[in-house]
Amino acid sequence: MEKFVINGGRRLTGEVAVSGAKNAALAIIPATVLSQDICVIENLPTSISDISYIIKALEYIGADVKLINSSTLYIDARRVNLYTIPDSITTHLRASYYFIGALLGRFGRANVAMPGGCYLGPRPIDQHIKGFELLGAKVSAEDKATVDVRCDKMRGTGIYLDVVSVGATANIMLAAVRAQGTTVIEQAAKEPHIVDLANFLNSMGADVRGAGTDVIKIRGVEHMHGCNYSIIPDQIEAGTFMVAAAATRGDVLIKNVIPKHLEPITAKLVECGAAVDENDDSVRVRLDRRPGKCNIKTMPHPGFPTDMQPQMAVLLSLADGQSVISESIWTNRFRYTEQLMRMGADITVEGRTAIINGIEQLKGASVRADDLRAGAAMIIAGLAATGKTEISDILHIDRGYEDVVGKFGELGADIRRLYCPDGSAAKAL
Ligand code: UD1
Repeated sequence: MEKFVINGGRRLTGEVAVSGAKNAALAIIPATVLSQDICVIENLPTSISDISYIIKALEYIGADVKLINSSTLYIDARRVNLYTIPDSITTHLRASYYFIGALLGRFGRANVAMPGGCYLGPRPIDQHIKGFELLGAKVSAEDKATVDVRCDKMRGTGIYLDVVSVGATANIMLAAVRAQGTTVIEQAAKEPHIVDLANFLNSMGADVRGAGTDVIKIRGVEHMHGCNYSIIPDQIEAGTFMVAAAATRGDVLIKNVIPKHLEPITAKLVECGAAVDENDDSVRVRLDRRPGKCNIKTMPHPGFPTDMQPQMAVLLSLADGQSVISESIWTNRFRYTEQLMRMGADITVEGRTAIINGIEQLKGASVRADDLRAGAAMIIAGLAATGKTEISDILHIDRGYEDVVGKFGELGADIRRLYCPDGSAAKAL
């Protein structure tokens, strides 16, 4: 068991470089099986555990995967020969469901155990299944443990999504690139990683247009080839550093970002009184006084990302006045507020709304990372708080953030990773 121990109360200052986008990588890596060729993918966050798990799944079905350097993978999918992925491989990772679309595209068959991932409320995949069925596939998911999809010849068609779903949009794209004719996805998700997946598929010879709007048109192709591709920067890691800078009343230059992807976060930080300077591929965030209040409603892109609401809740816990956060994507995404309240935050949760009365100062405490972004919020809270904060269950944080100690340490944070054998005293790693 490992923990992060933070001695808080230090302003973050200096520069930090953001890694490649986890959520783009988790769709792009399975997509490589669509070609019987070699892909080289750059700017990957290879040290996070979600990426290790998706690579294991790819190797399991027969791909040859090599790390060329700390952020570049060589993937040879020529010998992929399995369309089945058991739960021992998928259990750690929600995104393993992208193998359903990718293997359906490659073999006309996929049999994938239902995935794990953060618990944020029920996470149905009915829209993915609806898309595959409209493409002509026969889907059986009767025991709810495994999804089996088969189709001799997928045919392009119109698919109207009942909810805006990143997962369903990406999964349907992965299958439809190999269908006969044109598929039109309406009410598609517009997230930056959907655009990145479309660009990657097009680099492999696919014909995907309209990604980034709510209508995506995919003309199926007979053949896809290998490519070299560089993944976009991680919008949520960048946003996490932006909020951490503001919450510690610091001054941080966040590099390797696409400022346009950060606009919903930038807008809220500015509303709270921070100065955000946008450059070509970096943003500088400064705040030298108590943050102001603001209200947030999470929405599909370009709305405020649900993956940034726990981090913003920390900033708003310190704000002058009352703020309200409404969570419109997930039903159970306020569990972390209990942990934040252990640090003194004044938060009332009513259903999918959190009412936050700002306080002057958070106090260090022992808290838990309930899930990935909840864990990021605990780090920010620990950095801003007075005294010592210990964060347990950090395996959730390791799923999605590279080199937490190194990156925050460079900015002046006092943060350590400790190994704690059950019941005994913590030991420094
Ligand atoms: C969602 C977020 C994404 C975030 C991720 C983890 C949106 C639109 N998506 O992506 O930004 O990184 O969570 O926090 O903000 N749904 C169905 N049926 C389906 C699929 C989804 O009803 O088949 C519902 C979900 O229950 C949820 C909503 O649609 O309420 C969005 O789900 P989806 O975008 O698919 O989830 P992720 O891809 O995990």
